[in-house]
Amino acid sequence: MTSLKFPKSFLWGTASSAHQVEGGNVNNNWRNFEQQPNTIWANARSGLACDWWRNAEQDFDLMQQFGLNAHRLSIEWSRVEPREGTFDTKALDRYREMIGGLRDRGIMPVVALHHFTQPIWFATRGGWTNAESVALFQRYARTVVEALGDLCNFWITINEPLVYVAQTWFRGIWPPRTPNPRQAVLAFRHQLLTHGVAYQTIHSIQPDAHVGYAKAVRLFKGQRPNSQLDRYAAGIKRYLFEHIWFMATVDGRIRPPIGLNTYHHALKDSFDFVGVNYYTRDLVRFHPDPRALFGKETFDPSGEFSDATRSGRPYSELCAEGLRQICNEVNVFGKPIYVMENGLPDQDDDQRPRWLLAHLQQLHHAIQDGCDVRGYFHWTFVDNFEWDQGWNLRFGLVEMDPKTQIRTPRPSAYMYSNLIKENGISQQLLEKYADRL
Ligand code: BGC
Repeated sequence: MTSLKFPKSFLWGTASSAHQVEGGNVNNNWRNFEQQPNTIWANARSGLACDWWRNAEQDFDLMQQFGLNAHRLSIEWSRVEPREGTFDTKALDRYREMIGGLRDRGIMPVVALHHFTQPIWFATRGGWTNAESVALFQRYARTVVEALGDLCNFWITINEPLVYVAQTWFRGIWPPRTPNPRQAVLAFRHQLLTHGVAYQTIHSIQPDAHVGYAKAVRLFKGQRPNSQLDRYAAGIKRYLFEHIWFMATVDGRIRPPIGLNTYHHALKDSFDFVGVNYYTRDLVRFHPDPRALFGKETFDPSGEFSDATRSGRPYSELCAEGLRQICNEVNVFGKPIYVMENGLPDQDDDQRPRWLLAHLQQLHHAIQDGCDVRGYFHWTFVDNFEWDQGWNLRFGLVEMDPKTQIRTPRPSAYMYSNLIKENGISQQLLEKYADRL
């Protein structure tokens, strides 16, 4: 068994988002949402989160110790523009400090401009359902890139637009908790247009920037191999959640039911890399309910599962080969590929080392297949506020107690560090896990 080496200059990172780690965010729609009863598991609040606003540097030091050479974080729009049209230079300075702090430690920053949260003033005006959102976001994006562009040239416009749309407007789990399919279509459309405009805006300020999005992929697949209806329902979900977005950023066309096949020049070829977030694949079983898009999502009952969400359903099923599949699918776009998120909730860390290894082994297969994969960002470095799941799902390589703020690296953190040092999977690790990958 020989070791599996990754390409030279491969980015080994972790990913986080502002609201989940910063603490003290009081001007966004999630802050208000968290104050309402029963919106978050165990009525938890983000509170101080991981205290990054005051001291992200303690975790940056740890990242450096573990050998990471990249980290993905996001800018909190409500800090930078707390009131419409008023920009807070102190907040931008703090981001300069954080991004500069990563660079000083040899950690390349990748910066997302939108990761689920919105300023209260923006949400009050309808958020992404409002057509003005495109121009409002463009002004914010311009301000950020002008202020931070000398420290960063790797940008994600929007993280997981379809997860945001589905959780907010389709399922109605996230604020404002009012499901509405018409609003879902509008928010989807405006996020797409916003991405295109932001892509062009960033390039007009920074011609050599790498700009893209982080797109969640779940590879919906029919559950029963002989059921055409299951396959059909899975196809609808792949089309809506995955293909419409990808295709629009390739050819500039917004397809039905999000648009009438209209062409938008700013959207055409609007990504310099493909960013994919992959956690699990969903099996789909046909169901006549149109509100379920004619299919219910499920996992293989004989599969292996991560920790469960508050609904009792496991968060994910181990399906590492899905990562190889998605890389091969998006490789046809001819752009560099980055795994912008991958991970699992596993409080006691008894699965994470093996799941991590299994995904990296599949990523290596994808590279052997000819996919141009340039980096992997594990979700996440330190346990953080997991949206409506509160503090109950633990995704960190490093355990963090939100009450004491004490950090304890999990075994998987040491394994990741070893992988980074080797720039791949050592023979020793492969042998250790040989019959369990
Ligand atoms: C999101 C993160 C989230 C993670 C784990 C991704 O969909 O971008 O914000 O914490 O999944 O659920």
